[in-house]
Amino acid sequence: MTKQERLIIFDTTLRDGEQSPGASMSREEKVRIAKALEKMQVDVIEAGFPIASRGDFDAVYAVAEAVKDSTVCGLARALDTDIDRAGEALKPAVSARIHTFIATSPIHMKMKLRMQPEQVLEQAVVAVKRAKRYTDNIEFSPEDAGRSEFEFLCRVLEAVIKAGAKTVNIPDTVGYNLPEQFGDLMARLIATIPNSDQAVFSVHCHNDLGLAVANSLSAVQQGARQVECTINGLGERAGNAALEEIVMAVKTRQDLFNCRTGVDSTQIVPCSRLVSNITGFPVQPNKAIVGANAFAHESGIHQDGILKNRETYEIMRAQEVGWTANRMVLGKHSGRNAFKSHLQDLGFQFSTEAELNKAFFAFKDLADKKHEIYDEDLQALITEARTEDYHETVKLISLKVCSETGETPVAEVILSVQGVGEQSALAKGSGPVDATFKAIELIVHSQTQLLLYSVNNITSGTDAQGEVIVRLGQGDRIVNGHGTDTDIVIASARSYINAINKMAFPEEKAHPQIGDV
Ligand code: KIV
Ligand code: ZN
Repeated sequence: MTKQERLIIFDTTLRDGEQSPGASMSREEKVRIAKALEKMQVDVIEAGFPIASRGDFDAVYAVAEAVKDSTVCGLARALDTDIDRAGEALKPAVSARIHTFIATSPIHMKMKLRMQPEQVLEQAVVAVKRAKRYTDNIEFSPEDAGRSEFEFLCRVLEAVIKAGAKTVNIPDTVGYNLPEQFGDLMARLIATIPNSDQAVFSVHCHNDLGLAVANSLSAVQQGARQVECTINGLGERAGNAALEEIVMAVKTRQDLFNCRTGVDSTQIVPCSRLVSNITGFPVQPNKAIVGANAFAHESGIHQDGILKNRETYEIMRAQEVGWTANRMVLGKHSGRNAFKSHLQDLGFQFSTEAELNKAFFAFKDLADKKHEIYDEDLQALITEARTEDYHETVKLISLKVCSETGETPVAEVILSVQGVGEQSALAKGSGPVDATFKAIELIVHSQTQLLLYSVNNITSGTDAQGEVIVRLGQGDRIVNGHGTDTDIVIASARSYINAINKMAFPEEKAHPQIGDV
C-alpha cells in the first residue's frame, strides 16, 4: 500500500466526542478508550484540549504515556498559551501531533473572534510556527471552513502549509454542507492551493443534517486522505461522522475508493460498547454497523434469502465488525490469576492489590448470580467499580421494592449521605423505578431534572446484567450516571445516585470553540 492510498483515521471521540453534553470522561476512562482505539489500529487519537482544565491536561498526558502505536494529538486554539500547554501534555508521546485551529468564516471572524481576516491569517501562521517548537507533526483547521469564502480559505491554507502544517483539516463545523458541494470544495482546494501536495487534506464533518458520513466520504472521493470521526458518531450537538460507518463504507465499497484504512474492523463492536458504557450514551438498535439490529434479519423473506445465499441481503459479515456470538470467558470457578490476566488482555491495569481485590470480589458476586461471564460483563463491572470511587457523597446501602399486580409499587431506600450518616425513605410510584427515584429524592433533594432514562442488556438472556443510564440536568449542566446489575431496579438506583454524585462536583472546564479560557 503506498502512502497516497492510505486513508488516515483520526479519532476524536476523546475530544469532540467529549464535547457532547454529559459525555465527559475521567482520565482513567480516556486511557481505556485510547487503548481500545490503539488496538483497533486507529492512526491518530485526539485525546483532548489540554488547556481546558487540569483534568484535561492530565488525561492527555496519561493517554500520551499509555499509547505507543498510534499518534496522540492535543487540540489548541491558535494561541501561544494553548499551544504550549498542548506541547507539555504531549511530552511522553512516542508520536505526538498538535492540532491548532482558528475560525475563517465571515460570521465567526466578525461575531466570535472580532478580528479582521488578515489578523486571522497572521495568527494561524504564528500558531503553526509556535507548534513547531514541540513537534513536526502539526495539523491546522480553519474552523467553519464549510461556510468560509473560498479565496480566503485558499490563502490561509497555503500560508499554514508554508509555515509547516503537515495536515490541513477542512471542518464542516455546523454540519451545513451537502455531499456533492463538500466533495467539490475539497477537489477545488486541492487543485487551487499551489503547495497542496505538501500536506494531507483531511475532513471533519458534523451531523446536524445527518450528512456527516456522506460529506466525509464525498471529500475522500475527491482527494481527502484523512477522516476525523468518532466511535458511535458521538460529538458536539448531532455528533461527528461515525468511525465505524466510514471504515466499513471504504472497506465494503473498494470499487469506489482508491484508498484503504489500516483499521482492524473486528475491534469496532467491542470499542463501540466500551464508549457507550463509559459515556452513558446508548447506541440505537437500528444504528448502522454497531446497532443491535444491524445484522438481525427479522422478516421471513429476508431470512429465506439469507439461508439460500448470504449475499442476497447482507453486504458485510457480522464477524468482520466484531459481532461474535457471546463468548463465555470466565465463570464461578475462575481464580484470581485468570481474572487478572483476562482483564489485562482487555487493557485494564490495576495499580494496587486492593484495587484488584475489589474488582475480583465484585466478579465473584456477579458469578454467583450469573454463571457465564462475558467480556462485556467484565467491562461493565470495571466501569461500575471505578464509578463507585467517583466522589461518593451519596451511597446506596439497601433497596427494597414491592411490586404487585393491582397495587401501587412502593420502594424503601437506605442511603448513606456524607456528613449526615444513614437515612431511609419510603415512596410510592407509578412503577418500581419511579418509586425508587422518588424515595431517593426524599433524602437528597437534588433539584435536578430527569432528562433520560434508558435500560440496555449487556449480554443476552434473562440473567443478563442490565445497564441503566440516567441523565440529569440542572441549569445548563448535564450529567450522565450509569449503573449495572442483574436486577434492573438496583441498577437504576445506582445510576441515579451516580448522576447525583457527579452533579455535586462541577468540573470547571473550558470549551475550545465557545468562550474564553
Ligand atoms: O468542528 C470543528 O470545527 C472542530 C474544530 C476544532 C476542528 O471541532
Ligand atoms: Zn468538531
